[in-house]
Amino acid sequence: MSAAIIDGKAFAARVRGEVAEGVARLRAGAGITPGLAVVLVGEDPASQVYVRNKGAQTREAGMASFEHRLADDTTEADLLALIARLNADPAVHGILVQLPLPAHIEADAVINAIDPAKDVDGFTISNVGLLATGQKAMVPCTPLGCLLMLRDHLGELSGLNAVVVGRSNIVGKPMAQLLLAENCTVTLAHSRTRDLPEVCRRADILVAAVGRPEMIRGDWVKPGATVIDVGINRVERDGRTRLVGDVDYAAAEAVAGAITPVPGGVGPMTIACLLANTLTAACRAHG
Ligand code: GUN
Repeated sequence: MSAAIIDGKAFAARVRGEVAEGVARLRAGAGITPGLAVVLVGEDPASQVYVRNKGAQTREAGMASFEHRLADDTTEADLLALIARLNADPAVHGILVQLPLPAHIEADAVINAIDPAKDVDGFTISNVGLLATGQKAMVPCTPLGCLLMLRDHLGELSGLNAVVVGRSNIVGKPMAQLLLAENCTVTLAHSRTRDLPEVCRRADILVAAVGRPEMIRGDWVKPGATVIDVGINRVERDGRTRLVGDVDYAAAEAVAGAITPVPGGVGPMTIACLLANTLTAACRAHG
């Protein structure tokens, strides 16, 4: 039996539609247009694509998009001054600083300068602490997208064994917190985990966020498990560049109960959740 495909592209379109309806209501009812500021420092090609897509989808949802493209040699002081201006600007409800930042800028200092109420990435210490303690937080977009897909597909998650592979601040750690809040039994595994295949085989929910192409093999997947593949890796194959996930899709698909494809799984959900967070921030700012 082959797995059900969790269609992130279609789900993201649905979320974006709901956000657009919420934006329209806020504009008509309170005269407020949610605004998202995206800051890009330097010329990283992948980041430029993400920022362009974010701007386009923000406008499509009826929100204002403010893009700040800064040169690679921008100083940390200049970047902090821009964040201060955006924090004070009432037309800006969400601020996102695209990562990675150039090496001469301390990313933590910049992220933590963002007003937590406008921190639509959920990366500030304040939002990380709120999430960890089960309080109302801005939740990082990629793990939020994964959770929405899991809830949509499985319904109740309580009591399930969840294994998250990868302990990044952007995905792995907040994903583990979210699953814990859903009453899953959570294992946060990583590159030093002993007997990783055996650990993965215990998972009813397996979230792969390691950034290594096709590392999770088919025989690491418990039959019937739900597999969420966060990886987006570029590989050269047969003379062509292809996108693959962190999971060996063809092998896992034959074993899993459900699986997200790459591309078209988790990826589209990230920007949809960013728009949802921006709408939430705008609603909270205006009481
Ligand atoms: N770079 C890669 N993913 C992300 C993300 O979710 N947010 C930001 N700000 N930068 C990223």
